[in-house]
Amino acid sequence: MSTLILAIESSCDDTSASVVSDGIILSNVMASQDVHQKYGGVIPELASRAHLQNIVPVVSRALKDAGKEIKEIDAIVFTRGPGLLGSLLVGTSFAKGVALSLNIPLIDVNHLQGHLLSHFINEPGSNRRQPSFPFLSLLVSGGHTQIVRVDDFLSFEVIGETIDDAVGEAFDKCAKILGLGYPGGPAVDRLAKDGDPLKFKFSKPRIPAYNFSFSGVKTSLLYFIRDSVKDNPSFIEENLNDLCASFQNTLIDILMDKIIKATQDTGIKEVTLAGGVSANSVLRERVESEGKKRGWNTYIPENRFTTDNAAMIAVAGYYRYLNGHRAQMDTTPVSRAINYIL
Ligand code: KG4
Ligand code: ZN
Repeated sequence: MSTLILAIESSCDDTSASVVSDGIILSNVMASQDVHQKYGGVIPELASRAHLQNIVPVVSRALKDAGKEIKEIDAIVFTRGPGLLGSLLVGTSFAKGVALSLNIPLIDVNHLQGHLLSHFINEPGSNRRQPSFPFLSLLVSGGHTQIVRVDDFLSFEVIGETIDDAVGEAFDKCAKILGLGYPGGPAVDRLAKDGDPLKFKFSKPRIPAYNFSFSGVKTSLLYFIRDSVKDNPSFIEENLNDLCASFQNTLIDILMDKIIKATQDTGIKEVTLAGGVSANSVLRERVESEGKKRGWNTYIPENRFTTDNAAMIAVAGYYRYLNGHRAQMDTTPVSRAINYIL
Protein backbone atom coordinates (compact mmCIF):
# COMPACT_ATOMS: atom_id res chain seq x y z
CA MET A 1 0.00 0.00 0.00
CA SER A 2 1.33 3.44 -0.89
CA THR A 3 2.05 6.18 1.65
CA LEU A 4 0.33 9.50 0.99
CA ILE A 5 1.89 12.58 2.57
CA LEU A 6 0.63 16.16 2.72
CA ALA A 7 3.38 18.78 3.14
CA ILE A 8 3.02 22.43 4.17
CA GLU A 9 5.58 25.22 3.67
CA SER A 10 4.99 28.64 5.27
CA SER A 11 8.41 29.85 6.41
CA CYS A 12 8.47 33.24 4.70
CA ASP A 13 6.07 34.84 2.22
CA ASP A 14 4.92 31.86 0.14
CA THR A 15 2.15 29.54 1.30
CA SER A 16 2.56 26.16 -0.34
CA ALA A 17 1.11 22.65 -0.07
CA SER A 18 2.10 19.45 -1.82
CA VAL A 19 0.75 15.90 -1.93
CA VAL A 20 3.27 13.07 -2.37
CA SER A 21 2.64 9.38 -2.95
CA ASP A 22 5.65 7.18 -2.11
CA GLY A 23 8.00 10.07 -2.89
CA ILE A 24 6.26 10.98 -6.18
CA ILE A 25 4.88 14.53 -6.18
CA LEU A 26 1.22 14.54 -7.22
CA SER A 27 0.66 18.28 -6.66
CA ASN A 28 2.57 21.40 -5.63
CA VAL A 29 0.49 24.54 -5.09
CA MET A 30 1.95 27.93 -4.22
CA ALA A 31 0.40 31.26 -3.28
CA SER A 32 2.82 34.17 -3.14
CA GLN A 33 2.05 37.40 -1.31
CA ASP A 34 2.05 40.61 -3.36
CA VAL A 35 1.20 42.65 -0.28
CA HIS A 36 4.92 43.14 0.57
CA GLN A 37 5.94 44.71 -2.73
CA LYS A 38 4.99 48.25 -1.84
CA TYR A 39 7.05 48.08 1.38
CA GLY A 40 10.25 46.94 -0.37
CA GLY A 41 10.60 43.83 1.82
CA VAL A 42 8.65 41.16 3.68
CA ILE A 43 6.62 42.54 6.60
CA PRO A 44 6.36 39.63 9.09
CA GLU A 45 2.96 40.58 10.48
CA LEU A 46 1.41 40.88 7.02
CA ALA A 47 3.04 37.59 5.99
CA SER A 48 1.47 35.60 8.81
CA ARG A 49 -1.93 37.19 8.14
CA ALA A 50 -1.69 36.26 4.45
CA HIS A 51 -0.69 32.67 5.35
CA LEU A 52 -3.84 32.44 7.48
CA GLN A 53 -5.95 33.53 4.52
CA ASN A 54 -4.14 31.27 2.03
CA ILE A 55 -3.55 28.03 3.86
CA VAL A 56 -7.00 26.41 3.57
CA PRO A 57 -7.50 27.24 -0.14
CA VAL A 58 -3.91 26.18 -0.95
CA VAL A 59 -4.27 22.81 0.83
CA SER A 60 -7.69 22.21 -0.78
CA ARG A 61 -6.23 22.95 -4.21
CA ALA A 62 -3.24 20.63 -3.59
CA LEU A 63 -5.58 17.78 -2.61
CA LYS A 64 -7.84 18.45 -5.61
CA ASP A 65 -4.90 18.58 -8.06
CA ALA A 66 -3.66 15.27 -6.65
CA GLY A 67 -7.15 13.75 -6.89
CA LYS A 68 -7.10 12.89 -3.19
CA GLU A 69 -9.20 13.60 -0.13
CA ILE A 70 -7.87 14.74 3.22
CA LYS A 71 -8.99 11.50 4.91
CA GLU A 72 -6.68 9.51 2.62
CA ILE A 73 -3.54 11.25 3.97
CA ASP A 74 -1.21 8.96 5.99
CA ALA A 75 1.16 11.58 7.43
CA ILE A 76 1.56 15.35 7.55
CA VAL A 77 4.86 17.19 7.09
CA PHE A 78 5.52 20.85 7.91
CA THR A 79 8.40 23.33 7.86
CA ARG A 80 9.45 23.93 11.45
CA GLY A 81 12.18 26.48 10.69
CA PRO A 82 14.21 28.52 10.05
CA GLY A 83 11.97 31.37 8.98
CA LEU A 84 9.64 34.04 10.30
CA LEU A 85 8.10 32.87 13.55
CA GLY A 86 4.56 34.13 12.85
CA SER A 87 4.60 32.55 9.38
CA LEU A 88 5.96 29.24 10.67
CA LEU A 89 3.29 29.20 13.38
CA VAL A 90 0.51 29.13 10.79
CA GLY A 91 1.90 26.04 9.02
CA THR A 92 2.85 24.32 12.28
CA SER A 93 -0.57 24.85 13.86
CA PHE A 94 -2.37 23.76 10.73
CA ALA A 95 -0.27 20.58 10.49
CA LYS A 96 -0.87 19.75 14.15
CA GLY A 97 -4.61 20.24 13.66
CA VAL A 98 -4.63 17.81 10.71
CA ALA A 99 -2.47 15.26 12.59
CA LEU A 100 -4.75 15.43 15.61
CA SER A 101 -8.02 15.23 13.74
CA LEU A 102 -6.93 12.35 11.46
CA ASN A 103 -4.78 10.68 14.12
CA ILE A 104 -1.79 10.44 11.75
CA PRO A 105 1.96 11.03 12.24
CA LEU A 106 3.34 14.57 12.29
CA ILE A 107 6.83 15.18 10.81
CA ASP A 108 8.85 18.39 11.11
CA VAL A 109 11.31 19.47 8.41
CA ASN A 110 14.15 21.97 8.34
CA HIS A 111 13.46 24.39 5.50
CA LEU A 112 17.10 24.32 4.36
CA GLN A 113 17.10 20.54 4.13
CA GLY A 114 14.10 20.96 1.84
CA HIS A 115 16.11 23.24 -0.49
CA LEU A 116 19.05 20.82 -0.42
CA LEU A 117 16.84 17.85 -1.32
CA SER A 118 14.91 19.72 -4.03
CA HIS A 119 16.93 17.77 -6.62
CA PHE A 120 15.11 14.61 -5.53
CA ILE A 121 11.63 15.90 -6.39
CA ASN A 122 10.13 13.13 -8.52
CA GLU A 123 7.04 13.81 -10.58
CA PRO A 124 4.99 11.24 -12.49
CA GLY A 125 6.79 10.50 -15.75
CA SER A 126 9.82 12.68 -14.99
CA ASN A 127 13.30 11.21 -15.06
CA ARG A 128 15.29 14.12 -13.68
CA ARG A 129 19.03 13.49 -13.08
CA GLN A 130 19.74 13.25 -9.37
CA PRO A 131 23.00 13.80 -7.51
CA SER A 132 24.72 10.87 -5.87
CA PHE A 133 26.03 11.06 -2.30
CA PRO A 134 28.13 12.69 -1.06
CA PHE A 135 27.50 15.98 -2.85
CA LEU A 136 28.34 19.60 -2.17
CA SER A 137 25.57 22.16 -2.38
CA LEU A 138 25.85 25.89 -2.83
CA LEU A 139 22.72 26.95 -0.95
CA VAL A 140 21.90 30.55 -1.79
CA SER A 141 18.72 32.29 -0.68
CA GLY A 142 17.36 35.50 0.80
CA GLY A 143 18.15 34.30 4.31
CA HIS A 144 21.11 31.92 3.88
CA THR A 145 24.34 31.40 2.02
CA GLN A 146 26.07 28.13 2.80
CA ILE A 147 28.16 25.35 1.36
CA VAL A 148 26.75 22.08 2.67
CA ARG A 149 28.12 18.57 2.37
CA VAL A 150 25.20 16.14 2.01
CA ASP A 151 26.05 12.52 2.83
CA ASP A 152 22.58 11.04 2.58
CA PHE A 153 18.94 12.07 2.89
CA LEU A 154 19.38 12.63 6.62
CA SER A 155 23.02 13.82 7.03
CA PHE A 156 24.01 17.41 6.35
CA GLU A 157 27.19 19.22 7.32
CA VAL A 158 27.58 22.98 6.88
CA ILE A 159 31.19 23.47 5.82
CA GLY A 160 30.93 27.19 5.11
CA GLU A 161 28.48 30.02 5.54
CA THR A 162 28.07 33.75 5.49
CA ILE A 163 29.33 35.64 8.50
CA ASP A 164 26.91 38.53 7.86
CA ASP A 165 24.36 39.03 5.04
CA ALA A 166 22.99 36.37 2.71
CA VAL A 167 23.74 36.76 -1.00
CA GLY A 168 20.00 37.21 -1.72
CA GLU A 169 19.98 40.15 0.68
CA ALA A 170 22.89 41.67 -1.25
CA PHE A 171 20.90 41.34 -4.51
CA ASP A 172 17.83 42.87 -2.85
CA LYS A 173 19.86 45.70 -1.32
CA CYS A 174 21.51 46.47 -4.67
CA ALA A 175 18.04 46.71 -6.25
CA LYS A 176 16.91 49.03 -3.48
CA ILE A 177 19.94 51.33 -3.88
CA LEU A 178 19.30 51.46 -7.64
CA GLY A 179 15.59 52.18 -7.15
CA LEU A 180 14.32 48.81 -8.46
CA GLY A 181 11.43 46.91 -6.86
CA TYR A 182 11.33 44.06 -4.34
CA PRO A 183 12.42 41.27 -4.55
CA GLY A 184 15.43 42.73 -6.29
CA GLY A 185 17.27 39.61 -7.49
CA PRO A 186 15.12 38.98 -10.58
CA ALA A 187 15.27 42.69 -11.59
CA VAL A 188 19.08 42.84 -11.23
CA ASP A 189 19.40 39.58 -13.21
CA ARG A 190 17.18 40.95 -16.01
CA LEU A 191 18.92 44.34 -16.30
CA ALA A 192 22.38 42.78 -16.07
CA LYS A 193 21.78 40.92 -19.34
CA ASP A 194 22.40 44.16 -21.29
CA GLY A 195 25.28 45.37 -19.13
CA ASP A 196 29.06 45.05 -18.95
CA PRO A 197 30.04 42.86 -15.97
CA LEU A 198 33.55 44.33 -15.93
CA LYS A 199 32.67 48.03 -16.19
CA PHE A 200 32.72 48.75 -12.44
CA LYS A 201 34.87 47.07 -9.78
CA PHE A 202 33.63 46.33 -6.27
CA SER A 203 36.05 45.08 -3.66
CA LYS A 204 35.81 41.39 -2.77
CA PRO A 205 36.17 40.31 0.88
CA ARG A 206 38.99 38.11 2.18
CA ILE A 207 37.27 35.58 4.40
CA PRO A 208 38.95 32.34 5.50
CA ALA A 209 37.95 28.80 4.50
CA TYR A 210 34.54 28.39 2.85
CA ASN A 211 32.83 31.26 4.62
CA PHE A 212 31.32 34.28 2.90
CA SER A 213 30.74 37.95 3.62
CA PHE A 214 28.48 40.27 1.64
CA SER A 215 28.08 43.32 3.85
CA GLY A 216 31.30 45.02 2.65
CA VAL A 217 30.52 44.70 -1.04
CA LYS A 218 27.00 46.03 -0.39
CA THR A 219 28.43 49.07 1.42
CA SER A 220 30.97 49.65 -1.36
CA LEU A 221 28.09 49.86 -3.88
CA LEU A 222 26.22 52.26 -1.59
CA TYR A 223 29.21 54.66 -1.26
CA PHE A 224 30.10 54.38 -4.93
CA ILE A 225 26.55 55.37 -5.94
CA ARG A 226 26.41 58.16 -3.35
CA ASP A 227 29.66 59.71 -4.66
CA SER A 228 28.85 59.21 -8.34
CA VAL A 229 25.36 60.73 -8.04
CA LYS A 230 26.90 63.81 -6.39
CA ASP A 231 28.92 64.43 -9.59
CA ASN A 232 26.20 63.34 -12.01
CA PRO A 233 22.55 63.13 -10.80
CA SER A 234 21.69 60.90 -13.79
CA PHE A 235 24.52 58.44 -13.04
CA ILE A 236 22.19 55.55 -12.10
CA GLU A 237 19.91 55.88 -15.14
CA GLU A 238 22.86 56.24 -17.52
CA ASN A 239 24.67 53.16 -16.11
CA LEU A 240 21.86 50.97 -14.78
CA ASN A 241 22.63 47.88 -16.87
CA ASP A 242 26.38 48.06 -16.25
CA LEU A 243 25.87 48.62 -12.51
CA CYS A 244 23.61 45.57 -12.25
CA ALA A 245 25.95 43.42 -14.36
CA SER A 246 29.10 44.47 -12.46
CA PHE A 247 27.60 44.08 -8.99
CA GLN A 248 26.05 40.72 -9.89
CA ASN A 249 29.35 39.57 -11.34
CA THR A 250 31.14 40.43 -8.08
CA LEU A 251 28.61 38.47 -6.00
CA ILE A 252 28.88 35.46 -8.30
CA ASP A 253 32.70 35.57 -8.26
CA ILE A 254 32.59 35.45 -4.45
CA LEU A 255 30.29 32.40 -4.54
CA MET A 256 32.25 30.60 -7.25
CA ASP A 257 35.66 31.10 -5.56
CA LYS A 258 34.40 29.26 -2.48
CA ILE A 259 32.57 26.39 -4.13
CA ILE A 260 35.63 25.76 -6.35
CA LYS A 261 37.87 25.70 -3.27
CA ALA A 262 35.47 23.32 -1.48
CA THR A 263 35.46 20.86 -4.40
CA GLN A 264 39.26 20.99 -4.65
CA ASP A 265 39.77 20.36 -0.92
CA THR A 266 37.14 17.64 -0.51
CA GLY A 267 37.59 15.97 -3.89
CA ILE A 268 33.79 15.87 -4.25
CA LYS A 269 32.70 16.49 -7.82
CA GLU A 270 28.92 16.23 -7.41
CA VAL A 271 27.83 19.87 -7.15
CA THR A 272 24.32 21.21 -6.71
CA LEU A 273 22.77 24.66 -6.57
CA ALA A 274 19.79 25.35 -4.33
CA GLY A 275 17.69 28.21 -2.93
CA GLY A 276 16.02 31.30 -4.40
CA VAL A 277 19.21 32.86 -5.81
CA SER A 278 19.87 29.72 -7.85
CA ALA A 279 17.27 31.17 -10.25
CA ASN A 280 19.98 33.66 -11.28
CA SER A 281 20.79 33.09 -14.95
CA VAL A 282 24.50 33.98 -14.73
CA LEU A 283 25.08 31.90 -11.59
CA ARG A 284 23.49 28.93 -13.36
CA GLU A 285 25.73 29.43 -16.41
CA ARG A 286 28.85 29.84 -14.28
CA VAL A 287 28.21 26.64 -12.31
CA GLU A 288 27.64 24.78 -15.58
CA SER A 289 30.75 26.18 -17.28
CA GLU A 290 33.06 25.71 -14.26
CA GLY A 291 31.60 22.21 -13.92
CA LYS A 292 32.50 21.34 -17.51
CA LYS A 293 36.00 22.71 -17.05
CA ARG A 294 36.61 20.91 -13.76
CA GLY A 295 34.85 17.60 -14.40
CA TRP A 296 31.98 18.17 -11.95
CA ASN A 297 28.54 16.64 -12.34
CA THR A 298 26.31 19.68 -11.81
CA TYR A 299 22.65 19.78 -10.80
CA ILE A 300 20.72 23.01 -11.24
CA PRO A 301 17.12 23.03 -10.01
CA GLU A 302 14.30 23.96 -12.36
CA ASN A 303 13.25 27.56 -11.74
CA ARG A 304 9.93 26.54 -10.21
CA PHE A 305 11.78 24.57 -7.51
CA THR A 306 14.32 27.27 -6.64
CA THR A 307 11.88 29.36 -4.60
CA ASP A 308 10.13 28.18 -1.46
CA ASN A 309 7.77 25.31 -2.27
CA ALA A 310 6.14 22.44 -0.40
CA ALA A 311 7.31 19.75 -2.88
CA MET A 312 10.87 20.02 -1.53
CA ILE A 313 9.53 19.89 2.05
CA ALA A 314 7.54 16.80 1.08
CA VAL A 315 10.68 15.06 -0.21
CA ALA A 316 12.66 15.86 2.96
CA GLY A 317 9.69 14.80 5.10
CA TYR A 318 9.21 11.56 3.21
CA TYR A 319 12.73 10.37 4.02
CA ARG A 320 12.35 11.41 7.66
CA TYR A 321 9.04 9.53 7.77
CA LEU A 322 10.69 6.37 6.36
CA ASN A 323 13.41 6.72 9.00
CA GLY A 324 10.81 6.70 11.77
CA HIS A 325 11.15 10.36 12.65
CA ARG A 326 8.05 11.81 14.36
CA ALA A 327 7.37 15.26 15.85
CA GLN A 328 5.46 15.62 19.10
CA MET A 329 2.27 17.63 19.52
CA ASP A 330 4.11 20.16 21.70
CA THR A 331 6.67 20.89 18.93
CA THR A 332 7.15 24.62 18.40
CA PRO A 333 8.55 26.45 15.37
CA VAL A 334 12.12 27.75 15.47
CA SER A 335 13.12 30.94 13.67
CA ARG A 336 16.82 29.99 13.59
CA ALA A 337 17.83 26.36 13.17
CA ILE A 338 21.49 26.09 14.01
CA ASN A 339 23.44 23.35 12.24
CA TYR A 340 20.34 21.63 10.97
CA ILE A 341 19.52 20.19 14.39
CA LEU A 342 15.77 19.86 14.36
O1 KG4 B 1 14.85 30.79 -1.21
P1 KG4 B 1 14.03 32.03 -1.37
O2 KG4 B 1 12.81 31.98 -2.26
O3 KG4 B 1 13.56 32.54 0.02
C1 KG4 B 1 14.33 32.43 1.14
O4 KG4 B 1 14.27 31.34 1.79
O5 KG4 B 1 15.11 33.39 1.40
O6 KG4 B 1 15.04 33.19 -1.90
C2 KG4 B 1 14.62 34.51 -2.13
C3 KG4 B 1 15.81 35.31 -2.64
C4 KG4 B 1 15.55 36.82 -2.72
O7 KG4 B 1 16.62 37.49 -2.09
C5 KG4 B 1 15.53 37.10 -4.23
O8 KG4 B 1 15.96 38.41 -4.58
C6 KG4 B 1 16.49 36.05 -4.73
O9 KG4 B 1 16.18 34.90 -3.97
N1 KG4 B 1 16.33 35.78 -6.17
C7 KG4 B 1 17.29 36.05 -7.09
C8 KG4 B 1 16.74 35.71 -8.36
N2 KG4 B 1 15.47 35.23 -8.14
C9 KG4 B 1 15.24 35.28 -6.80
N3 KG4 B 1 18.53 36.55 -6.95
C10 KG4 B 1 19.26 36.72 -8.07
N4 KG4 B 1 18.80 36.44 -9.30
C11 KG4 B 1 17.56 35.93 -9.51
N5 KG4 B 1 17.12 35.64 -10.73
ZN1 ZN C 1 13.93 29.24 1.10
